[in-house]
Amino acid sequence: MKYPSVTLSFLALSLSLCACASAPAGSTSGPDEESVGEDLNQRFLSDDLDVQRFTRVFEGESREVSRQRERILAILGIRPGMAVADVGAGTGLFLGPLNEAVGPEGVVYAVDISPGFVEHLRERARREGLEAVEVVLCGERSSALPEESVDVVFVCDTYHHFEYPRSTVASLHSALRDGGSLVVVDFDRIPYVSRPWILGHVRAGRQAFVREIEAVGFELVDRPRVFGLLENYVLRFRKS
Ligand SMILES: C[S@@+](CC[C@H](N)C(=O)[O-])C[C@H]1O[C@@H](n2cnc3c(N)ncnc32)[C@H](O)[C@@H]1O
Repeated sequence: MKYPSVTLSFLALSLSLCACASAPAGSTSGPDEESVGEDLNQRFLSDDLDVQRFTRVFEGESREVSRQRERILAILGIRPGMAVADVGAGTGLFLGPLNEAVGPEGVVYAVDISPGFVEHLRERARREGLEAVEVVLCGERSSALPEESVDVVFVCDTYHHFEYPRSTVASLHSALRDGGSLVVVDFDRIPYVSRPWILGHVRAGRQAFVREIEAVGFELVDRPRVFGLLENYVLRFRKS
């Protein structure tokens, strides 16, 4: 039987909305929140983390976020003197440009859950003379940032790695100053459309993530379009 393409598109959209709604995080935060995936960060927490290999993967030309790094940074709205947190800083793809954007009066908190990446970030900041950078080893439920200490929180391809998203986002909410913004870049997970790797790796779609983040007290204010991002979306939230 032949279906008109509009019917197939509608079917794909309906399935995608159902699938997105099927894997949201629970409604509690703090110590009672259940894990959304216990092995989400296994490879980053491993004692024999291969930082060189991840640097090639995260910072290589084959990754669209790496290719569009300057365009992504441009939409963060960072001004000299600001305090910015790069949560899930990884190998430090954004470290140098963030350090430059905040200038000598500002601060960049490079936050990560992986001891191996944190050690590498400290060494990289020292080697590259990134004086505004402060590296923070965080926990699985908290960013470990002080209350009302930052103007912008940036989370790039990391939200889907948060094992306890509600608790982690609640800690980002309290770390932000009034009027501060949270910018999330993540993979668009669209059943039957996204690459199999994304479908297998990312637990839910954009709408589910928006609902989770808004439930913690953020308001979605903008969905900036970044030229060259085909598999990733950008969401800007304000602390409400
Ligand atoms: C895919 S990497 C992205 C790294 C970097 N943002 C980039 O775009 O190149 C995800 C990173 O998030 C970190 N991560 C996972 N869960 C985290 C959490 N709850 N808090 C902070 N970092 C976390 C991992 O250790 C890893 O470095």
